Amino acid sequence: MSRARSHRWLRRPNGDTTPRFAYGADYNPDQWPREVWHEDIRLMREAGVNVVSLAIFSWARIQPTEDTWDFGWLDEIMDLLHEGGIGVDLATATASPPPWLTTAHPEILPVTASGETVWPGARQHWRPTSPVFREHALRLVTTMAERYAGHPALVAWHISNELGCHNIYDYSDDAARAFRDWLRARYGDLDALNSAWGTAFWSQRYSDFEQVLPPRLAASHPNPTQQLDFKRFSSDALKQYLVAEREVLTRITPDVPVTTNFMVMGETKGMNYADWAAEVDFVSNDHYVLPGPQSLDELSFSANLTGNIAGGRPWFLMEHSTSAVNWQPINRAKLRGELARDSLLHVAHGADAVCFFQWRQSAAGAEKYHSAMVPHAGADSAVFRAVSALGATLRDLAPAAGAPRRPARAALLFDWESWWASEQDSHPTSRLRYRQEALDWYSAFLALGVRADIVPRGAALEGYDLVVAPVLHVLPAELAKELTAYVEGGGHLVTTYFSGIVDENDHAWLGGYPGPLRDLLGIRIEEFAPLLDDETVTLDNGATGTLWTDEITLTAPDVEVLATYTSGAQAGRPAITRRPAGPGSAAYVSTRLGAQGLTPVLARLLAAAGIGSELPEEARGHVELAVRGDGDTEFWFLVNRTDEPVRLPGVTGDVLSGPTGGGTADDPLVLHPRGVTVLRRPAGR
Ligand code: GLA
Ligand code: GLA
Repeated sequence: MSRARSHRWLRRPNGDTTPRFAYGADYNPDQWPREVWHEDIRLMREAGVNVVSLAIFSWARIQPTEDTWDFGWLDEIMDLLHEGGIGVDLATATASPPPWLTTAHPEILPVTASGETVWPGARQHWRPTSPVFREHALRLVTTMAERYAGHPALVAWHISNELGCHNIYDYSDDAARAFRDWLRARYGDLDALNSAWGTAFWSQRYSDFEQVLPPRLAASHPNPTQQLDFKRFSSDALKQYLVAEREVLTRITPDVPVTTNFMVMGETKGMNYADWAAEVDFVSNDHYVLPGPQSLDELSFSANLTGNIAGGRPWFLMEHSTSAVNWQPINRAKLRGELARDSLLHVAHGADAVCFFQWRQSAAGAEKYHSAMVPHAGADSAVFRAVSALGATLRDLAPAAGAPRRPARAALLFDWESWWASEQDSHPTSRLRYRQEALDWYSAFLALGVRADIVPRGAALEGYDLVVAPVLHVLPAELAKELTAYVEGGGHLVTTYFSGIVDENDHAWLGGYPGPLRDLLGIRIEEFAPLLDDETVTLDNGATGTLWTDEITLTAPDVEVLATYTSGAQAGRPAITRRPAGPGSAAYVSTRLGAQGLTPVLARLLAAAGIGSELPEEARGHVELAVRGDGDTEFWFLVNRTDEPVRLPGVTGDVLSGPTGGGTADDPLVLHPRGVTVLRRPAGR
């Protein structure tokens, strides 16, 4: 299970240990004249802000030329913040190299697959593997760490910013060199590389490591294992960069925790955060609401996965938005109540810090239309009032701070490598979307009011009664053994189409699909049968399938057919199967059903595993429940997902936050539209 290296949380310089939530924002005072700073601190105190992330994009200001430094302004604002009782999550300031550096050293600029230079003018225009960039960046990190080591405002270090947001894939000569080193370390020798990459195909055999390149623009599909390894390498290269900054920081300030902001969100998939988590003292995440019918489910999904990447322990919501962003095609403002609800949904999934991008909305620059805690309209605004109200809510919730996530009985297995590999080119369909399939399953859990932990591959599964592993495409022999042992130990496993297809080298398992899961599932598939865009199939349970079907042959007498195709080429053949195995079982869903179609299927599988909802029937689907706590006390976060009030008969506890009254047997709780109520309850009631 991935988890942070130490789980040291923000320093509390006054030695105070009373539980509290951190609350604040990215703060960019260098965009504003000094007079504004004083107003900022007054307003921060008014809103309950107690932490800011500072200097994220300040390299050019701090080091205006290679040999000059300007720390006066930063010293002053650090002091002012400290006097105001506000802690600083201080950035290493390396996110955006200044023009003097890129002019003197254009060899630090990333290169695209087709050989174009990624020019400066925006941000994050640097190669993770550039020794020249690293030398300059680490010099800055060293200087920052030495200067602020003893500053009382410093509560944590914030490495760079959203590593890989814009620079995850670099195909430069530096990247080529580093890729070869990475391959030498992985494979040892060329024979092993040639065999793993299947270079007997298309005359790709290498006779010298120097011949190996990143998968640059090629005449046809580049070698798929080369592509998969390049994704692994690219994630690792940024992780190694993160480690390089961290080593400087922990050498100079061993007592200050180090973090960096992940982007567990939507289709951001290049960074394997499950693998990065062990390199930070606490996990931080950035999340922005993505428009669409599943937007709230997606928020919950991301927060849930982040919490489990953090090993169930508290994590830091480093950025989200008070209202609209500026980078979607159409940027929707949040409705009343959404600011607090979205924040508290992260808290429900284990966040102990709630921070926004950014404190004061910029007047200039590419993000001037991005919302902030203090909008263009100023403090006399609905947004700032909502921000202040949330600060007060977080104070009410303080007793819940520090509580870990309480594990659910069901889990959804999430695997970056399957995400990467299942969406590569030259596959049976180019339409498969790994995260969407996982999200649809999660939406089905939410619709049924059943909690599920979204856990990264490698997490211990034994504690879960049911595990859904959608599109578990990459199935190394070890993992197949683990899953088999899980089922034989009484676990209920559910998997889907295009699972168990390849090993870690992206070589197909032979003898019929799904490879090493065939016997467990009691099925065999000889050929995939993906559907065209306008093709659908019907099932005898009333559901409609899209994207994919399989021609399934049952190979064991005890396999139950839960649904059969009633149209298309597979009409009359099994669509969904389940094979009991002692007290456990293994089920297979061969088509894409979407959230709605999956809900009744999941209901049946949960019932067979003996898992029910902890919510009253009338609230299921309308309310999300997340639980934090260990020991004798737990905290129930009840999040109204709808625009209507929702009654919760039978749900009892002390109301920590939310409408007062209610929460007793005779006086049921009523959640406000988009409202969140938090109850303190004895554990396991
Ligand atoms: C990311 C970045 C911030 C800002 C926001 C805008 O999270 O880290 O600097 O650009 O996006 O949504
Ligand atoms: C062409 C090529 C073959 C093979 C097939 C695949 O015909 O000559 O090598 O790639 O396409 O359809």
